[in-house]
Amino acid sequence: MNILLTGGAGYIGSHTCVILLEQGYDVIVVDNLCNSQVTSLKRVEQITGKKILFYQEDLCNPAGVDEIFRQNSIDAVIHFAGLKSVAESVDQPLRYYQNNIDGTLVLCEVMQANGVKSLVFSSSATVYGNPESVPINENAPVGAFNPYGRSKLFIEKILTDLYFADKSWNISLLRYFNPVGAHPSGLIGEDPFGLPNNLMPYISQVAVGKIPELQIFGDDYETPDGTGVRDYIHVMDLAQGHLGALEKLASDPGLVTYNLGTGKGFSVLEMVAAFEKAAGKKIPYKIVGRRPGDIPTCYANPSFAEKELGWTARRGIDEMCADAWRWQSMNPKGYV
Ligand code: NAD
Ligand code: UD1
Repeated sequence: MNILLTGGAGYIGSHTCVILLEQGYDVIVVDNLCNSQVTSLKRVEQITGKKILFYQEDLCNPAGVDEIFRQNSIDAVIHFAGLKSVAESVDQPLRYYQNNIDGTLVLCEVMQANGVKSLVFSSSATVYGNPESVPINENAPVGAFNPYGRSKLFIEKILTDLYFADKSWNISLLRYFNPVGAHPSGLIGEDPFGLPNNLMPYISQVAVGKIPELQIFGDDYETPDGTGVRDYIHVMDLAQGHLGALEKLASDPGLVTYNLGTGKGFSVLEMVAAFEKAAGKKIPYKIVGRRPGDIPTCYANPSFAEKELGWTARRGIDEMCADAWRWQSMNPKGYV
């Protein structure tokens, strides 16, 4: 089976490529490399001993995307491509809406025109905003705080409308919690351009000496130690969840939403301690003010994905930190 991955050269996409290739799928990647490097795909080929068909193309270019569908017999699409920085989305809302929403519209139009109607979409727990209660179920109220989050929410609504207009589509909306870690080989991992926005890549770069210290955004939340609590999920577990979602599409499930998380929350200080243990070194940090838009606590109820997909996250925070550290220490400058 041929699976097309938009944004497949990126962090989550490249790890999903590994899982799909190992399972015997043929993988086609479309990526404009605006936030990734083609080296990630070369490394995936090194890990798996298999080839990826790569197209450097912008999803917002209908003719280019259509040509890829005409050249290949595609069975299903996993749609990772998108811009993902919350802070950048606040400064550049039009760019975020244009790229994320237009890219999705073009993709769906081309899929429809070519008779491909199986789609897995990368959504985010950010669509839950500040949850009323935890753990969060898929039917919890949604409402995002920033243009990035709203782009995810709008795309979910667009895909829902598409499904209700034509029920021959099968669409999986995957709401990721906090993906971290790396492939255990240390060959692929998260390689943010510029200063990282998220906690784990930031800690990794402090550990490797690229950044002097971590700033912890607030220790006065209503959490056990006052720092924010999140559901960190190993990227290989997350990648495995895509395989489950893809296999489920074959059984004609219609439109389905799944939380992909572990169901457990860890604080910033707990993650720092786990990373120190994995790296065998201290992570210098200082407590600073809260980051605007942050919420105290967020973790999933992943039982629906477990029941429907037979999927569950297996790796704990020690393995997440050990794998993140192996990647960072083997590649202190990322893919460069
Ligand atoms: P990433 O930036 O590493 O990967 C996204 C890829 O999409 C990049 O390779 C980028 O070059 C490509 N891309 C962006 N716009 C494109 C376009 N118009 N045409 C073609 N390619 C384009 O990000 P990631 O962490 O791998 O995230 C993958 C998806 O998962 C994104 O949609 C993101 O919003 C979502 N997500 C990520 C997280 C997270 O913490 N990493 C959490 C929740 C949801
Ligand atoms: C952030 C995004 C969210 C996105 C998610 C995954 C914001 C406001 N939210 O969520 O939309 O879906 O990433 O990409 O950006 N922290 C520090 N110091 C740091 C970085 C983070 O203390 O340098 C803390 C945060 O306050 C938070 C925790 O670490 O409590 C996790 O932060 P982060 O990794 O950015 O993820 P989220 O806040 O969950």
